[in-house]
Amino acid sequence: MEKLVSLAKRRGFVFQSSEIYGGTGSVWDYGPLGIELKRNVKERWWSRMVHQRDDVEGLDASILMHPRVWEASGHVEGFTDPLVECKVCKKRFRQDQLSTQACGKKPSKTPGETEECELGEPRLFNLMFKTFMGPVEDAAHVVYLRPETAQGSYVNFLNVQTSSRQKIPFGVAQIGKAFRNEITPGNFIFRTREFEQAEMQFFVKPGSDDEWFEYWREERMAWHRSLGIREENLRFHEHGPGELAHYAKKAMDIEYHFPFGWKELEGIHNRTDFDLGRHQEYSGKRLEYIDSGAGERFLPYVVETAVGVDRTVLVLLTDAYHEEEVEGEERVVLRLHPTVAPLKAAIFPLVKKDGLPEIARGLMDELRRAAIPAFYDESGSIGRRYRRQDEAGTPWCITVDGQTAEDGTVTVRDRDSLEQVRVDASQVKGWIRERLEVE
Ligand code: GAP
Repeated sequence: MEKLVSLAKRRGFVFQSSEIYGGTGSVWDYGPLGIELKRNVKERWWSRMVHQRDDVEGLDASILMHPRVWEASGHVEGFTDPLVECKVCKKRFRQDQLSTQACGKKPSKTPGETEECELGEPRLFNLMFKTFMGPVEDAAHVVYLRPETAQGSYVNFLNVQTSSRQKIPFGVAQIGKAFRNEITPGNFIFRTREFEQAEMQFFVKPGSDDEWFEYWREERMAWHRSLGIREENLRFHEHGPGELAHYAKKAMDIEYHFPFGWKELEGIHNRTDFDLGRHQEYSGKRLEYIDSGAGERFLPYVVETAVGVDRTVLVLLTDAYHEEEVEGEERVVLRLHPTVAPLKAAIFPLVKKDGLPEIARGLMDELRRAAIPAFYDESGSIGRRYRRQDEAGTPWCITVDGQTAEDGTVTVRDRDSLEQVRVDASQVKGWIRERLEVE
């Protein structure tokens, strides 16, 4: 993880937030390469979950919602973690994670000895961030920063259904920020207090929910695999009765084998009619779906898929990171799937003369105009230029050399196999596009 965090900073993937002030431990900023990677993850999710289907609609609900939403959803009452504080070291822990947390002991005043942590009584700590709507800061004006995007889809369920004329089963997809005042954030961008979620709520007829749950968990696992994440690092974990969230009848995580162990990457939940039922009760508005063909009305059940965008970025970086030896030299390479790689191509003139820089820049402009992110580099030896792009995860390095002036071809070097092929410069755009197509 240390190497990854250092690479992420050095190459402009992720920076600590407010670093010049000493940083805010649990929030991070995405740099020039990181934002491209993150945007590509969201694009791959939206494409598969919305654009490639006719039964899922998109939505962008606001972060601030009516405070009753969070009473109805159960978050005001139940979105809590048990917090314990140590009287010796003053650190705070989640009581349910004590065995995995560090601290425990601190040096005593007597040299060579340590003092045991002395934990106080646990108290329930609500993870929602609170603020005030308008200029008056009193209880009547409290609003929350949403801890999940899902509720925006529930309160808009009928708006989306009637405006899009969807019939059940259908889904509502959203990507957006969520906030949780986590007691123990950490492990880089794994657990933070501000993060992005990509969630989809699939509304189904009660009775068909088990079948849809199976469908969505397989579908979501297939998406992770399609990003090139190694099969052996992914697995399912079904929640036992003690692990289930207050809204879930059944839940299954897709877990990834992080350097710090197997941990949740995505959650698939059968939320039954819990949320719609509660919103119906708290708002006094009927939220039933009317099936005019069958002459019936009912509250749909919901199968939810919920993945963290930042967590997916961490998985992609972790899975892609490799150190290896090439021709007696060590190289660090990010073997990112080309569709998520921030840059698709780097263009190098072999030497800074004989008109090669002009040809190389012309090729870069052509790729950029075709919306293929490309980078021009003429400084340093070819070997050093390759290494810089290997660390950035750029799949193809294209060199313009003496032969280009003669026959119009360039060398394309593959980041992973290191194979080099000659491609006609006029064909490079199509050659790259072909390789970026998603099955
Ligand atoms: N709507 C359901 C829901 O929010 P969740 O399992 O609490 O379910 C879904 O969250 C996903 O959001 C997680 O699998 C994880 O990828 C991401 N996530 C949750 N809390 C996070 C945090 N503090 N930091 C980063 N990502 C987080």
